[in-house]
Amino acid sequence: MTLAYWNGDYLPLEEVRVSPLDRGYLFGDGVYEVLIAYDGHAFEAEAHFERLRRSMTALSLTGGPDVPALTAMADRLLGDCHAATRAQAMTLYIQVTRGVEAARNHSLPKAAHPSVLAYASPITRKTAAHYAKGFTAVTAPDRRWLMCDVKSISLAGAILAHDLADQAGALECILIRDGLVSECSSSNVFIVSGGVIVTPVADNRILNGISRQVILRLARENGWPVEERDVTEQELRAADEVWVSSTSKEIAPIVSLDGKPVGGGVPGPAGIAMRAAFDRLIEQTARRNR
Ligand SMILES: Cc1ncc(COP(=O)(O)O)c(C=O)c1O
Repeated sequence: MTLAYWNGDYLPLEEVRVSPLDRGYLFGDGVYEVLIAYDGHAFEAEAHFERLRRSMTALSLTGGPDVPALTAMADRLLGDCHAATRAQAMTLYIQVTRGVEAARNHSLPKAAHPSVLAYASPITRKTAAHYAKGFTAVTAPDRRWLMCDVKSISLAGAILAHDLADQAGALECILIRDGLVSECSSSNVFIVSGGVIVTPVADNRILNGISRQVILRLARENGWPVEERDVTEQELRAADEVWVSSTSKEIAPIVSLDGKPVGGGVPGPAGIAMRAAFDRLIEQTARRNR
């Protein structure tokens, strides 16, 4: 049984009932977060909660849970899932939609009555052997909207891009807009070129990934050269290393792009060093919370 939070109650996920007039269902009018917990401890939870609040504000979605409420929800659901499964890694999905109305109507409702869903599930992390071998990626034009900094549940563009990766047996689809790399269907992109770690600027063209922020912080703490700037498609294709990052993929080295090797066709030294730093941070976080 998976325990869910649904509009103030805790109940089995399969007992949650959503109205067909929920604006999330009708319009994709809502926002979400996915965070990860290692050994029962949420990783970078505050950053995820703040981003959820920011996404709500960007969509004028009022009345959603505040940070203390999100923290309580996360503790209860992750605690329950960990007790039941002892899973080393779990994800917590949180979704807030603009809620149910009397009839389908484009106008924003006068009163706030959001629908809030959350539940935790065990996940299997990719192994050290997967990361040592590396992953493949494909590219495609970025056809999504221009509020990619909002973690909206309207994900048709991302899903179609992800399908291209699935069809190619690849981990991810890297999106290109106007000759510039934006991000992937559900990850951020880094390249390493001439010893410098480079990632696109976090503006409206990408989601400012929490993993992205952690990687930038680790690079700066370790004194590794790092730049946030536009990255051209040409630079991507000529890069020594390409990584993609997300909460569930962590930092995944891309060793083949559109069927051509990236750098030497194996994970490069900067990515290996960054992975080790990321692993140490995960371990420290778990230890601090023990
Ligand atoms: C479009 C997009 N970019 C980047 C990311 C990575 O974000 P995070 O590191 O916070 O998981 C995601 C995660 O779902 C995403 O959907």
